[in-house]
Amino acid sequence: MSRLLTVENVSSGYGLTPVLRGVSMHVDTGEVVAVVGANGVGKSTLLRTITGLVHPTGGDITFDGVHITGLPAHRIVSHGLAMVPEGGRLFTFMTVMENLELGAFNPTSREDTQQSLHEVMELFPILRERRAQRAGSLSGGERQMCAIARALMSRPRMLMLDEPSLGLSPVMLEKVFDLIRMVVASRDVTVLLIEQNVADALEMANRAYVIEHGVIAKTGPGAEMLHDPDIQRAYMGL
Ligand SMILES: Nc1ncnc2c1ncn2[C@@H]1O[C@H](COP(=O)(O)OP(=O)(O)OP(=O)(O)O)[C@@H](O)[C@H]1O
Ligand SMILES: [Mg+2]
Repeated sequence: MSRLLTVENVSSGYGLTPVLRGVSMHVDTGEVVAVVGANGVGKSTLLRTITGLVHPTGGDITFDGVHITGLPAHRIVSHGLAMVPEGGRLFTFMTVMENLELGAFNPTSREDTQQSLHEVMELFPILRERRAQRAGSLSGGERQMCAIARALMSRPRMLMLDEPSLGLSPVMLEKVFDLIRMVVASRDVTVLLIEQNVADALEMANRAYVIEHGVIAKTGPGAEMLHDPDIQRAYMGL
């Protein structure tokens, strides 16, 4: 397995407020890696920093051997990194189809728009049925599918998902996790998953990191962390 993403001693925050204080982590090609932690510890900030939406105040981020630290977000997408933001953030007044097409807007993926559309609709057939519907009128689960599909339209090597289970019922949550498993199995894509559903995330992940107060407090194989009494007590209510 080769190293795909390396985050080295990265600090970042908003204005004068530091959030991440020297975070180091990595993701290898083909892995599913989970980042878990309580509300407000900096999980979304970590993803925003990797994708260039928040600029780090220190440290270094390398993707596929390229230093991407401080690059503008659109340049980072063209290196093959795509994010499904918290809540999906679809363009609610646009149709499903328009949302998907926008996902392929980047110069590196635009030529393949038709092929990518075909692929994501094979993967999520419901989106073919709903293609002319406004994204704002989709159900919660359909919205997550559309958001994941839009991210896949950029033909990423790595997909980063920020709490894809947010606001979903337990049944829908299972479905969305199945979808993520399906994407991992059927596409050549590596996954970085942020989750508050710690048990589900650890079950799915090859490896995981726990963030506490802006630093990595613990890391290990998902299966091992799932049975870690400290983690069970702190995050799984056991
Ligand atoms: N745009 C912003 N401006 C100022 N502070 C922010 C901004 N976005 C987030 N923060 C603060 O940074 C801290 C980390 O936020 P972040 O969204 O990364 O947390 P999180 O771990 O994703 O939490 P959650 O599980 O609730 O999504 C929080 O204290 C939050 O209030
Ligand atoms: Mg968050």
